[in-house]
Amino acid sequence: MRVVIQENYEKMCKWAADYIAAKINAHAGDRPFVLGLPTGSSPIGVYQELVRKNRAGKITFKNVVTFNMDEYLGLPREHDQSYWYFMHDNFFNHVDIPAENINILNGMTDDPEGECARYEEKIASYGGIDLFMGGIGVDGHLAFNEPYTSLSSRTGVRALTTDTRIVNSRFFGNDPEKVPAYALSVGIGTVTDSKEVLVLINGHNKARALAATVEGGVSQKWTCSALQLHPAAIIACDEAACGELTVDTYKYFLDIEKEERL
Ligand code: GLP
Repeated sequence: MRVVIQENYEKMCKWAADYIAAKINAHAGDRPFVLGLPTGSSPIGVYQELVRKNRAGKITFKNVVTFNMDEYLGLPREHDQSYWYFMHDNFFNHVDIPAENINILNGMTDDPEGECARYEEKIASYGGIDLFMGGIGVDGHLAFNEPYTSLSSRTGVRALTTDTRIVNSRFFGNDPEKVPAYALSVGIGTVTDSKEVLVLINGHNKARALAATVEGGVSQKWTCSALQLHPAAIIACDEAACGELTVDTYKYFLDIEKEERL
């Protein structure tokens, strides 16, 4: 696992956007580049930087197919807290990606199991995901895979914990009851099947989760720890999130990634 520590949130986002752009630009052949994407506040700066690069002609999304991580069950697309809305508002509406290349789980489906099975099939039909960008919750959830979700889980229906509903209530008038109780989410196995995984971890409130992901054992208690078994996982983080790492770990990653901090 690589851990790329950047001084602050802006630099972390810039690093991640540069990395993604380089991968897309290096991609050759007829097959599209398949990119997995998250929502949340962590990736917003990355989306802004990717939009800037697209406008500046440094990258195009015309041959990129995207799969989003998750969606609240029961929220229509037009709801301003649906992940469909978030993605269009923050990213898709501002870049040159063809609408038919965008895949987001349908939170209004009357057949959730079928919707999730079809999502997995569609990912497979493209030959899998080249790069999955993710973020994590304070409890280490990756997509909506809460603690104790199987580390080999596939796309499916997930019940949200009370803690997650409380954390996410900041977007729902601070009322946890207004946060949907269920979501559709890719599984941990879906994410770790990707050729590369790049997870953003920033802020003091993610310090415990970062330490568990990097230094803890692989455990379903911290579903993000499954990244330790991935052959090409990168964590991009800021200094603030490093507060619970041991000094040794912190120094080790600064040392071996020093070129990447420039
Ligand atoms: C939600 C999403 C996750 C995201 C997490 C963290 O729960 N389902 O995919 O990683 O929030 O969000 P933030 O980046 O706002 O801390």
